Amino acid sequence: MNWILLGPPGAGKGTQASKIVEKYSIPHISTGDIFRKNIKEGTPLGKKAQEYMNKGLLVPDDLVVEIAASRLLEDDCKKGFLLDGFPRTVYQAQKLDEFLASNGSKIDCVLDVAVDKNELMGRLIGRRVCKACGAGFHVTNMPPVKEGICDICGGQLYQRADDTEETVANRISVYEAETMPLIDYYEKAGNIKHIDGAKDLDAVFADIVSALGE
Ligand code: AP5
Ligand code: MG
Repeated sequence: MNWILLGPPGAGKGTQASKIVEKYSIPHISTGDIFRKNIKEGTPLGKKAQEYMNKGLLVPDDLVVEIAASRLLEDDCKKGFLLDGFPRTVYQAQKLDEFLASNGSKIDCVLDVAVDKNELMGRLIGRRVCKACGAGFHVTNMPPVKEGICDICGGQLYQRADDTEETVANRISVYEAETMPLIDYYEKAGNIKHIDGAKDLDAVFADIVSALGE
């Protein structure tokens, strides 16, 4: 169960990841979440990553690869893992393959969650995230029961710093230029499954489960 969630900003990677890790009991590794945690704590890594994230640019490859590799060495990843937002360049994918091979392991399945570009902006501008537990909501698609408050833990909801119209547009362009070539990379490796991310949340999850197997 060494899996990757691939897809543009707003495809629903984080949303589906919470459901996948609950069903299959594997850790969810989101490089974006790791960077946001470091930004919140004011670490040197957070300060460096923030410069790129706020502009919608990718954090430099070597930094990301190092962070991901050290996370994958933790004990909870031995039974499998779900990567979200990593790898994001062909270089990162090659480094990941080398790292896993050196540990006698490999990627078993890449889930390519596709959503039309025109839908992504609305999803991201309307996204709200819980400050306390990280749960994701959407002002119209997935509204919390009480406006601004997390249904799960009662924490305050906020809007991500990179969910502005200008930054989202940059993130989508960066995805097309840097990350989309990965579809071809994994197509050649023969381990990619294509998921229609435009369906509703539960339908997308059902398609993911049938791709991964019960
Ligand atoms: P990251 O945090 O990974 O952001 P992202 O890839 O841009 O993706 P998002 O988290 O914005 O979207 P998502 O697909 O998780 O969608 P979600 O489920 O929340 O990365 C942020 C930044 O960190 C990058 O820009 C980069 O700077 C840096 N970074 C991270 N990893 C890196 C790497 N490997 N290399 C270099 N830099 C890196 O859903 C979005 C909204 O849509 C939600 O409101 C949700 O409720 C709604 N929604 C979800 N599914 C549906 C549905 N089926 N129907 C209707 N609404 C839906
Ligand atoms: Mg996400």
